[in-house]
Amino acid sequence: MERDEREIGRKFQQATKYKRGRLPLHESSTARTPIPFKIYADAKTVELPKPETSGGAPLWDVIAKRRSHREFGLKSLTLEELGQLLWAGQGITYKTAGFGFRAAPSAGALYPAETYFLATNITNLLPGLYHYNVRKHEAELLKEGSLELELAAAALDQEFVADAPLTIIWTVIVERSAWKYSQRAYRYIYLDTAHIAENVMLAAAALGLGACGVGAMYDDEVNNLLGVDGETETAIYLCVVGKR
Ligand SMILES: Cc1cc2nc3c(=O)[nH]c(=O)nc-3n(C[C@H](O)[C@H](O)[C@H](O)COP(=O)(O)O)c2cc1C
Repeated sequence: MERDEREIGRKFQQATKYKRGRLPLHESSTARTPIPFKIYADAKTVELPKPETSGGAPLWDVIAKRRSHREFGLKSLTLEELGQLLWAGQGITYKTAGFGFRAAPSAGALYPAETYFLATNITNLLPGLYHYNVRKHEAELLKEGSLELELAAAALDQEFVADAPLTIIWTVIVERSAWKYSQRAYRYIYLDTAHIAENVMLAAAALGLGACGVGAMYDDEVNNLLGVDGETETAIYLCVVGKR
Protein backbone atom coordinates (compact mmCIF):
# COMPACT_ATOMS: atom_id res chain seq x y z
CA MET A 1 0.00 0.00 0.00
CA GLU A 2 1.31 3.46 -0.95
CA ARG A 3 2.10 5.92 1.84
CA ASP A 4 -0.69 8.23 0.58
CA GLU A 5 -3.24 5.42 0.85
CA ARG A 6 -2.13 4.64 4.40
CA GLU A 7 -2.68 8.28 5.26
CA ILE A 8 -6.06 8.70 3.58
CA GLY A 9 -8.21 8.01 6.64
CA ARG A 10 -6.35 10.45 8.86
CA LYS A 11 -6.40 13.12 6.14
CA PHE A 12 -10.11 12.63 5.54
CA GLN A 13 -10.92 12.90 9.23
CA GLN A 14 -8.90 16.11 9.55
CA ALA A 15 -10.14 17.67 6.30
CA THR A 16 -13.79 17.14 7.14
CA LYS A 17 -13.71 18.63 10.66
CA TYR A 18 -16.00 21.56 11.30
CA LYS A 19 -13.89 24.38 12.75
CA ARG A 20 -15.38 27.44 14.42
CA GLY A 21 -15.30 30.45 12.10
CA ARG A 22 -14.22 28.29 9.16
CA LEU A 23 -17.35 26.39 8.26
CA PRO A 24 -17.41 25.33 4.61
CA LEU A 25 -19.97 27.02 2.41
CA HIS A 26 -22.57 24.42 1.69
CA GLU A 27 -22.95 25.05 -1.99
CA SER A 28 -25.70 22.90 -3.38
CA SER A 29 -24.70 21.33 -6.67
CA THR A 30 -28.31 21.00 -7.80
CA ALA A 31 -31.19 23.43 -7.35
CA ARG A 32 -33.50 21.00 -5.61
CA THR A 33 -33.11 18.59 -2.72
CA PRO A 34 -32.54 15.15 -4.26
CA ILE A 35 -35.54 12.82 -4.04
CA PRO A 36 -34.78 10.33 -1.25
CA PHE A 37 -36.34 7.30 -2.94
CA LYS A 38 -35.09 4.91 -5.55
CA ILE A 39 -37.77 3.09 -7.48
CA TYR A 40 -37.38 0.16 -9.81
CA ALA A 41 -40.45 0.94 -11.88
CA ASP A 42 -40.24 -2.20 -14.06
CA ALA A 43 -39.67 -4.66 -11.23
CA LYS A 44 -42.23 -7.22 -10.17
CA THR A 45 -43.43 -6.14 -6.72
CA VAL A 46 -44.47 -7.99 -3.59
CA GLU A 47 -46.65 -6.22 -1.05
CA LEU A 48 -45.24 -6.67 2.46
CA PRO A 49 -47.50 -7.28 5.47
CA LYS A 50 -48.34 -4.14 7.42
CA PRO A 51 -45.81 -3.79 10.27
CA GLU A 52 -46.72 -3.64 13.96
CA THR A 53 -46.20 -0.06 15.14
CA SER A 54 -46.94 -0.54 18.83
CA GLY A 55 -46.36 -3.18 21.47
CA GLY A 56 -43.58 -5.68 20.99
CA ALA A 57 -40.81 -6.71 23.37
CA PRO A 58 -39.71 -4.19 26.03
CA LEU A 59 -36.79 -2.06 24.82
CA TRP A 60 -34.48 -2.61 27.81
CA ASP A 61 -34.90 -6.39 27.49
CA VAL A 62 -34.14 -6.18 23.78
CA ILE A 63 -31.00 -4.09 24.28
CA ALA A 64 -29.82 -6.40 27.05
CA LYS A 65 -30.27 -9.54 24.96
CA ARG A 66 -29.03 -8.37 21.53
CA ARG A 67 -25.93 -10.31 20.46
CA SER A 68 -24.43 -11.06 17.08
CA HIS A 69 -25.58 -14.44 15.76
CA ARG A 70 -23.88 -16.24 12.91
CA GLU A 71 -25.37 -19.71 13.13
CA PHE A 72 -28.77 -20.29 11.66
CA GLY A 73 -30.96 -23.34 11.44
CA LEU A 74 -32.78 -24.34 8.30
CA LYS A 75 -35.99 -22.58 9.36
CA SER A 76 -37.39 -19.95 7.06
CA LEU A 77 -38.36 -16.41 8.04
CA THR A 78 -41.93 -15.25 7.50
CA LEU A 79 -43.00 -12.35 5.29
CA GLU A 80 -44.29 -10.67 8.48
CA GLU A 81 -40.82 -10.85 10.03
CA LEU A 82 -39.24 -9.52 6.84
CA GLY A 83 -41.70 -6.62 6.66
CA GLN A 84 -41.18 -5.76 10.33
CA LEU A 85 -37.38 -5.71 9.95
CA LEU A 86 -37.45 -3.53 6.83
CA TRP A 87 -39.92 -1.14 8.44
CA ALA A 88 -37.77 -0.92 11.59
CA GLY A 89 -34.83 0.14 9.42
CA GLN A 90 -36.31 2.59 6.98
CA GLY A 91 -40.09 2.62 7.33
CA ILE A 92 -41.95 5.91 7.26
CA THR A 93 -43.11 6.63 10.80
CA TYR A 94 -44.26 10.25 10.63
CA LYS A 95 -45.72 12.30 7.80
CA THR A 96 -46.08 16.04 7.70
CA ALA A 97 -46.73 18.32 4.73
CA GLY A 98 -46.30 15.36 2.40
CA PHE A 99 -42.82 14.56 3.77
CA GLY A 100 -42.14 11.18 5.33
CA PHE A 101 -39.78 10.96 8.28
CA ARG A 102 -38.35 7.50 8.82
CA ALA A 103 -37.74 5.07 11.67
CA ALA A 104 -34.01 5.85 11.83
CA PRO A 105 -32.59 9.38 12.03
CA SER A 106 -30.77 10.86 9.02
CA ALA A 107 -28.52 13.92 8.79
CA GLY A 108 -30.66 16.72 7.34
CA ALA A 109 -33.49 14.19 6.75
CA LEU A 110 -31.84 13.49 3.37
CA TYR A 111 -32.02 9.69 3.65
CA PRO A 112 -29.06 8.70 1.46
CA ALA A 113 -29.37 4.96 2.24
CA GLU A 114 -31.17 2.41 0.09
CA THR A 115 -32.15 -1.03 1.36
CA TYR A 116 -31.76 -4.20 -0.69
CA PHE A 117 -32.06 -7.76 0.52
CA LEU A 118 -31.22 -11.24 -0.55
CA ALA A 119 -34.09 -13.57 0.24
CA THR A 120 -32.77 -17.12 0.49
CA ASN A 121 -35.39 -18.80 2.67
CA ILE A 122 -38.49 -16.70 3.27
CA THR A 123 -41.94 -18.27 3.27
CA ASN A 124 -44.02 -17.25 0.25
CA LEU A 125 -41.22 -15.25 -1.34
CA LEU A 126 -39.21 -16.37 -4.38
CA PRO A 127 -35.49 -16.55 -3.59
CA GLY A 128 -33.69 -13.59 -5.11
CA LEU A 129 -32.38 -10.09 -4.77
CA TYR A 130 -34.91 -7.41 -3.90
CA HIS A 131 -35.03 -3.66 -3.30
CA TYR A 132 -37.19 -2.25 -0.53
CA ASN A 133 -39.62 0.39 -1.75
CA VAL A 134 -39.89 2.57 1.36
CA ARG A 135 -42.90 4.60 0.25
CA LYS A 136 -45.04 1.61 -0.65
CA HIS A 137 -43.60 -0.87 1.87
CA GLU A 138 -43.10 -3.27 -1.01
CA ALA A 139 -40.32 -5.53 -2.21
CA GLU A 140 -39.15 -5.04 -5.79
CA LEU A 141 -37.65 -8.16 -7.35
CA LEU A 142 -34.36 -7.35 -9.13
CA LYS A 143 -32.86 -10.81 -9.76
CA GLU A 144 -34.56 -14.12 -9.19
CA GLY A 145 -32.49 -17.08 -8.02
CA SER A 146 -30.13 -18.37 -5.36
CA LEU A 147 -27.36 -15.82 -5.01
CA GLU A 148 -26.24 -16.60 -1.46
CA LEU A 149 -22.94 -18.22 -2.45
CA GLU A 150 -22.08 -15.21 -4.59
CA LEU A 151 -22.97 -12.82 -1.76
CA ALA A 152 -21.00 -14.83 0.82
CA ALA A 153 -17.96 -14.74 -1.50
CA ALA A 154 -18.39 -10.97 -1.86
CA ALA A 155 -18.62 -10.71 1.94
CA LEU A 156 -14.97 -11.65 2.26
CA ASP A 157 -15.84 -15.35 1.93
CA GLN A 158 -17.66 -15.42 5.28
CA GLU A 159 -19.58 -18.68 4.95
CA PHE A 160 -22.32 -17.88 7.45
CA VAL A 161 -23.65 -15.32 4.95
CA ALA A 162 -24.59 -18.21 2.65
CA ASP A 163 -26.49 -19.94 5.48
CA ALA A 164 -28.66 -16.96 6.39
CA PRO A 165 -32.27 -17.02 5.18
CA LEU A 166 -32.03 -13.24 4.80
CA THR A 167 -29.21 -10.78 4.20
CA ILE A 168 -30.04 -7.09 4.13
CA ILE A 169 -27.66 -4.89 2.15
CA TRP A 170 -27.48 -1.12 2.51
CA THR A 171 -26.06 1.19 -0.11
CA VAL A 172 -25.94 4.97 -0.11
CA ILE A 173 -26.57 7.41 -2.92
CA VAL A 174 -23.83 9.84 -2.00
CA GLU A 175 -25.24 12.91 -3.77
CA ARG A 176 -28.37 12.92 -1.63
CA SER A 177 -26.20 13.89 1.31
CA ALA A 178 -23.26 15.57 -0.50
CA TRP A 179 -25.77 17.98 -2.09
CA LYS A 180 -25.94 19.68 1.29
CA TYR A 181 -22.90 18.55 3.26
CA SER A 182 -20.24 18.31 0.57
CA GLN A 183 -17.27 16.19 1.74
CA ARG A 184 -18.64 15.93 5.29
CA ALA A 185 -21.40 13.81 3.76
CA TYR A 186 -18.89 10.96 3.74
CA ARG A 187 -19.09 10.91 7.54
CA TYR A 188 -22.85 11.09 7.61
CA ILE A 189 -23.54 8.27 5.14
CA TYR A 190 -21.90 5.80 7.54
CA LEU A 191 -23.64 7.25 10.58
CA ASP A 192 -26.99 7.12 8.82
CA THR A 193 -26.49 3.51 7.73
CA ALA A 194 -25.40 2.43 11.18
CA HIS A 195 -28.56 3.91 12.71
CA ILE A 196 -30.68 1.94 10.25
CA ALA A 197 -28.75 -1.26 10.85
CA GLU A 198 -29.01 -1.00 14.63
CA ASN A 199 -32.76 -0.51 14.38
CA VAL A 200 -32.92 -3.71 12.31
CA MET A 201 -30.70 -5.65 14.71
CA LEU A 202 -32.80 -4.55 17.69
CA ALA A 203 -35.97 -5.44 15.79
CA ALA A 204 -34.48 -8.88 15.08
CA ALA A 205 -33.72 -9.35 18.78
CA ALA A 206 -37.26 -8.20 19.65
CA LEU A 207 -38.66 -10.85 17.30
CA GLY A 208 -36.45 -13.55 18.85
CA LEU A 209 -34.32 -13.76 15.67
CA GLY A 210 -30.55 -13.76 15.33
CA ALA A 211 -28.69 -11.09 13.35
CA CYS A 212 -25.14 -9.94 12.69
CA GLY A 213 -23.78 -6.84 11.00
CA VAL A 214 -21.22 -7.53 8.28
CA GLY A 215 -18.85 -4.75 7.29
CA ALA A 216 -16.15 -6.92 5.74
CA MET A 217 -16.78 -7.15 2.01
CA TYR A 218 -15.15 -6.86 -1.37
CA ASP A 219 -17.05 -3.66 -2.01
CA ASP A 220 -17.23 -3.80 -5.77
CA GLU A 221 -18.25 -7.47 -5.78
CA VAL A 222 -21.27 -6.48 -3.67
CA ASN A 223 -21.87 -3.46 -5.92
CA ASN A 224 -21.76 -5.66 -9.02
CA LEU A 225 -24.25 -8.07 -7.51
CA LEU A 226 -26.61 -5.19 -6.81
CA GLY A 227 -26.02 -3.59 -10.21
CA VAL A 228 -24.85 -0.27 -8.76
CA ASP A 229 -21.75 1.59 -9.93
CA GLY A 230 -19.86 1.83 -6.61
CA GLU A 231 -19.36 5.61 -7.02
CA THR A 232 -22.69 7.42 -7.16
CA GLU A 233 -24.25 4.53 -5.23
CA THR A 234 -22.13 2.19 -3.19
CA ALA A 235 -22.60 -0.66 -0.72
CA ILE A 236 -21.88 0.20 2.92
CA TYR A 237 -23.04 -2.57 5.21
CA LEU A 238 -24.78 -5.95 5.33
CA CYS A 239 -26.80 -7.68 8.01
CA VAL A 240 -27.62 -11.38 8.11
CA VAL A 241 -30.81 -12.45 9.87
CA GLY A 242 -32.17 -15.89 10.69
CA LYS A 243 -33.80 -18.16 13.23
CA ARG A 244 -31.46 -19.06 16.09
C1 LIG B 1 -19.30 -2.07 11.63
C2 LIG B 1 -19.35 -3.53 12.02
C3 LIG B 1 -18.88 -4.49 11.14
C4 LIG B 1 -18.94 -5.83 11.46
N1 LIG B 1 -18.53 -6.75 10.54
C5 LIG B 1 -18.58 -8.06 10.84
C6 LIG B 1 -18.17 -9.01 9.87
O1 LIG B 1 -17.81 -8.70 8.75
N2 LIG B 1 -18.24 -10.32 10.24
C7 LIG B 1 -18.67 -10.73 11.47
O2 LIG B 1 -18.71 -11.93 11.71
N3 LIG B 1 -19.09 -9.84 12.40
C8 LIG B 1 -19.05 -8.52 12.12
N4 LIG B 1 -19.48 -7.59 13.04
C9 LIG B 1 -20.04 -8.03 14.34
C10 LIG B 1 -19.03 -7.84 15.48
O3 LIG B 1 -18.03 -8.81 15.40
C11 LIG B 1 -19.79 -7.94 16.83
O4 LIG B 1 -20.70 -6.90 16.92
C12 LIG B 1 -18.81 -7.89 18.00
O5 LIG B 1 -18.04 -9.06 18.07
C13 LIG B 1 -19.51 -7.70 19.34
O6 LIG B 1 -20.42 -8.75 19.61
P1 LIG B 1 -21.99 -8.51 19.85
O7 LIG B 1 -22.55 -7.88 18.59
O8 LIG B 1 -22.56 -9.87 20.09
O9 LIG B 1 -22.13 -7.60 21.00
C14 LIG B 1 -19.46 -6.23 12.71
C15 LIG B 1 -19.95 -5.27 13.61
C16 LIG B 1 -19.91 -3.94 13.25
C17 LIG B 1 -20.47 -2.92 14.22
